[in-house]
Amino acid sequence: MTLIETTTRRADTDAPLIAPLIERWSPRAYDPAAELSEQDARTLLEAARWAPSANNLQPWRFILARRGDPAFTTIHDALMGFNQAWADSAAALVVNVAEVADDAGTPRPWAKYDLGQAVAHMTVQAQHDGLHTHQMGGFDGARLAEAFGLRDGLEIVSITAVGKVGDASALPEPLREREVAPRSRKPIDELLITAA
Ligand SMILES: Cc1cc2nc3c(=O)[nH]c(=O)nc-3n(C[C@H](O)[C@H](O)[C@H](O)COP(=O)(O)O)c2cc1C
Repeated sequence: MTLIETTTRRADTDAPLIAPLIERWSPRAYDPAAELSEQDARTLLEAARWAPSANNLQPWRFILARRGDPAFTTIHDALMGFNQAWADSAAALVVNVAEVADDAGTPRPWAKYDLGQAVAHMTVQAQHDGLHTHQMGGFDGARLAEAFGLRDGLEIVSITAVGKVGDASALPEPLREREVAPRSRKPIDELLITAA
């Protein structure tokens, strides 16, 4: 069993950060026996609930399915093949939905921005609680929206795998290699736009 030495996955930061931000990374190898408890699931949703949002509209919705639930299979089946290859071992899959328009069709222009913050809250809380997360954009959103009967105005933006880190050697080769590849980020200077 090749459990990834999680200390080697820590961010090599240029300034001091809080522990969950240093330690968070996105594994693909999850322990297929680990389960997400009711309490842990509730804590993740609570973290999302307390995210800021434009006008406090809280335009985020979630579908949370644990491994073994029929809904988990529905979500997993809608993932792109490169995500299906590993996400079946996650303890849970969370579909992240933005309310981009309300019931009356009025647009909510900040919905995806707000959803992103709620998901970020969730990932940091998960890390703090000893869980890992891996967000995905590779899925068939139309298929999922139909499967869950989502109304117009509810848009699936991403899916988060949640679980405990597992055996990296269980991954198919291109993924195993990526699991141990060094993590990198652009330097801070490259993020700053200065006046011309
Ligand atoms: C919106 C979004 C979509 C992503 N889509 C995928 C995906 O479909 N499959 C995948 O394996 N990783 C996906 N990722 C994970 C990123 O590749 C990962 O976060 C990035 O490489 C940085 O690595 P780190 O999270 O370990 O720091 C996605 C991440 C985000 C935020």
